[in-house]
Amino acid sequence: MEKIRVNALRPYDVLVGAGVLGNLGKDKRSIVITQPGARAVAEKVRNAIGAKWLYELPDGEKAKTLEEVRKLYEFALSNGIERKDKVYAVGGGCAGDAAGFFAATYMRGMPLVHVPTTILAQVDSGIGGKVGVNFGGAKNIVGAIYQPEAVYMDISVLAGLPEKHLRNGLAEAIKYGLILDAGFFGYLEKNVGKALAKDEKVLEKIVADSVRAKAKVVEKDEFESGERMKLNYGHTIGHGIEAVTGMLHGEAIAIGMAAEILVAKKKGLVSESEVERQNKLLEKTGLPLKAKASLKEVMAKIKSDKKRSQGKARMVLLEGIGKSKVEEVEDAEIEEVLREVLE
Ligand SMILES: NC(=O)c1ccc[n+]([C@@H]2O[C@H](COP(=O)([O-])OP(=O)(O)OC[C@H]3O[C@@H](n4cnc5c(N)ncnc54)[C@H](O)[C@@H]3O)[C@@H](O)[C@H]2O)c1
Ligand SMILES: [Zn+2]
Repeated sequence: MEKIRVNALRPYDVLVGAGVLGNLGKDKRSIVITQPGARAVAEKVRNAIGAKWLYELPDGEKAKTLEEVRKLYEFALSNGIERKDKVYAVGGGCAGDAAGFFAATYMRGMPLVHVPTTILAQVDSGIGGKVGVNFGGAKNIVGAIYQPEAVYMDISVLAGLPEKHLRNGLAEAIKYGLILDAGFFGYLEKNVGKALAKDEKVLEKIVADSVRAKAKVVEKDEFESGERMKLNYGHTIGHGIEAVTGMLHGEAIAIGMAAEILVAKKKGLVSESEVERQNKLLEKTGLPLKAKASLKEVMAKIKSDKKRSQGKARMVLLEGIGKSKVEEVEDAEIEEVLREVLE
C-alpha cells in the first residue's frame, strides 16, 4: 500500500493498493453516493463505515446533470443531512464528478471522500478536486474545484472492470509519462501487457505514479492558471473528437495525442522516432490513433472549447518524451494535423 500526500490548499492523503478499503473506519453520518456499475464496492464501503444513507445515481454521463444533483439536494434535505455529514463518492469519474459537485455545493460544502472504482477515476478524476456536471450540451461546464479530505484507491475493485475501460484509463497514465516523466513512460512500455492482464502489482504502480504525477502538477497550480494546463495534452484536439464521435474519453485523447505530437514535430520539438514511440505504446494498449469523423465538425467543436482564450487554442507541446510546455497555436496548424488522424 502507498500513501501519497497531495499538498493542495487543504492537503489530503491518497491511499493506493489492493485492499485499502480495509482501512476505512466507522463514519455513520455519511451518505454513500454511487452508480450501478460500482454497486458492489458501494455496499462494501457502506458496511465498513456503517453509513446511514446510500444513494444511487443513474449510470455514466446521465448522472452528470443539474437535474440529478437537484434530486440529491432533495434527498439530502428530506433526510436531514447536515453540513458536517460526509459524502463518500464511490464509482467512476461520472459518480465522482456529480457526487463531488453535490458535496461542494450542498450547504456551501460538505466533507468529501473519493473512492474511485475505474482506472480512469484512479489515475485522473479522483484527485485534483475538479467536480461538476454537464450543461447545455457542454461537458463539465458547471462545477467547482473542491478537494476531498481523503481518497481510497483500491486496486482490487478493478477486477470486474470491462477491458475497454481499462484501456481508456491507461491513456491518461501514458499522458503523464509523455508530459512529465520519461521513466514512467519507459515502465509503461515494458509493462502495459501486464496492466491489461490486470496484474495488481503493475496496476498499483501505474496508479500510484499517476497520482504522484498529477499531484505534482496540481500542487503547483491548483486553480489552473498555468502548469495545470499541461494535463491537457491530447485534449485540445481529443475533446473535439470525443464530442463528435461519442468515443470513450481515453480513446479520443489517444487520437488527440497522435495529432498533437505532430504539431510539436513540425516545430522541431520532437523527433520522428519519439512520435513512433508514443504511437507504438498507444497501439500496444489497444487505443486508436485515428477516428472516422468530419474535419469540419471536429474543428467546430475545437473552436467552441471553454479552454480557448481570445479565439485561440492553447496546446500542450511535447519537448521530447517526459517534458512539455503550453503554447498558443493557430487553428490552421490544428487543421493540418487533424487531417492526418481523421479518415
Ligand atoms: N474531475 C476530473 O478531474 C476528471 C478527470 C477526467 C475525467 N473526468 C470525468 O470522468 C468521467 C469518465 O469517468 P469514467 O471513465 O470512470 O466513466 P464512468 O464513471 O462512466 O465509469 C465507466 C463504467 O464503469 C462502471 N464501473 C465503475 N466502477 C466499476 C468497477 N469497479 N467494476 C466494473 N464496472 C465499474 C460504471 O458504472 C460505468 O458504466 C467523464 O465524465 C469525465 O468528464 C473528470
Ligand atoms: Zn482526460
